[in-house]
Amino acid sequence: MPEYKDRNRDLLILQHEFDEPHKYLGSPVPPVFMNSIHVFDKLEQFESWQEDGTFVYGRNGNPTVDVLERKIAALEHGKHSVVYSSGMAALTAAIMSTCRAGDHIICMTEAYSSIREDVEMFADRFGMSASFITCSDLQEVEDTMQENTKLVVLESPASTFLRVVDLEGIAKIAHRHGAKTYIDNSWSSPILQKPLDFGIDMVMHSLSKYIGGHSDVIGGVVTTNDDKIHHDLLHIVRDLVGGCLGHMEAWLAIRSLRTLEMRVRESERAGIAVAKYLDSHPKVRKVYHTSLPTHPRQDLIKKQQTGHAGLLGVTLDTDDEQTVLRFCNSLQVFRRGAAWGSFSSLVQMPLHHLPIDSLGDLLKDRLIVRLACGFEGADNLIADLEQALEKI
Ligand SMILES: Cc1ncc(COP(=O)(O)O)c(C=O)c1O
Repeated sequence: MPEYKDRNRDLLILQHEFDEPHKYLGSPVPPVFMNSIHVFDKLEQFESWQEDGTFVYGRNGNPTVDVLERKIAALEHGKHSVVYSSGMAALTAAIMSTCRAGDHIICMTEAYSSIREDVEMFADRFGMSASFITCSDLQEVEDTMQENTKLVVLESPASTFLRVVDLEGIAKIAHRHGAKTYIDNSWSSPILQKPLDFGIDMVMHSLSKYIGGHSDVIGGVVTTNDDKIHHDLLHIVRDLVGGCLGHMEAWLAIRSLRTLEMRVRESERAGIAVAKYLDSHPKVRKVYHTSLPTHPRQDLIKKQQTGHAGLLGVTLDTDDEQTVLRFCNSLQVFRRGAAWGSFSSLVQMPLHHLPIDSLGDLLKDRLIVRLACGFEGADNLIADLEQALEKI
């Protein structure tokens, strides 16, 4: 694992940078600006907002939102971040900023199901086309590139199967073909992986995961170093389509950033312990987690990540649906619920509810269980898994 050499810098960004207490009567906590408009002495002052970034109207910008965007951009080693009302709105923003009718998108098969569906929706309804591939082999990516490929959509590590792909290698291929790259970095948070360093063009987070961290915020963010993409993320998508993040959500996300590093590390500690416990259990067929020596891409994990998160995939040693459901329903500390990255541990079967004909190659993994480790402590989580495994 590479040393987390940015830790000291990141901690200062999380705790102090961009907070500017001198602007707010010495408050170390930037206020939530609940206003939807700003007013001016002269019309000319607000007519120049697109050039000078003056706050005019809440959909285009808000001082609380601005603090959040500046902190996330700095954490990701990016120039610009733009926040949206959800992670899905952030993906939609990235597609609309880089593609138009006639273009081709490559998307990782194991990306979050709604991300795959969103890409398919653009292909079906807006005159684009899409290819779904594992992206685990650079030759596969090269061979799938077309003259009109404009975007490669990645999620690495992918949130259920923990597939890790070569960010630098894929970015180089995409750029050679004139395409942009996008990664969903929600699993890692900016603490464990900074994809812009490997040449990726757009880094997305669902704020409801580690960044929000308290099961009380829905939001999304895209970070980029590319000025043209930034312009389009702001103008085409936030100004014209809408989908801006609420002021209160931005304030809650800033509050959550203070503890991001500690929360991610606690979740990592639990994730590693749970993965190790399950990996040696006779009723478990396979565990997917980047901390396990059996993970096939240790080379990339060591290069790209500075640690492991607390989300893992597990296949029980059975093909019986009712047995897997009994296991999930017997858990008491892990609650049944969507998302991850919060204080509370959660269990879900992310492919179970999807229409069978939408799963393709993933159909064989329909019974996979996803465990998100929160802050109840590894001992409590392992004891809970133990009693649930005894029931099957
Ligand atoms: C990996 C991943 N990416 C993106 C999203 C979408 O984010 P949001 O729910 O904020 O729209 C989710 C949602 O669960 C997710 O799991």
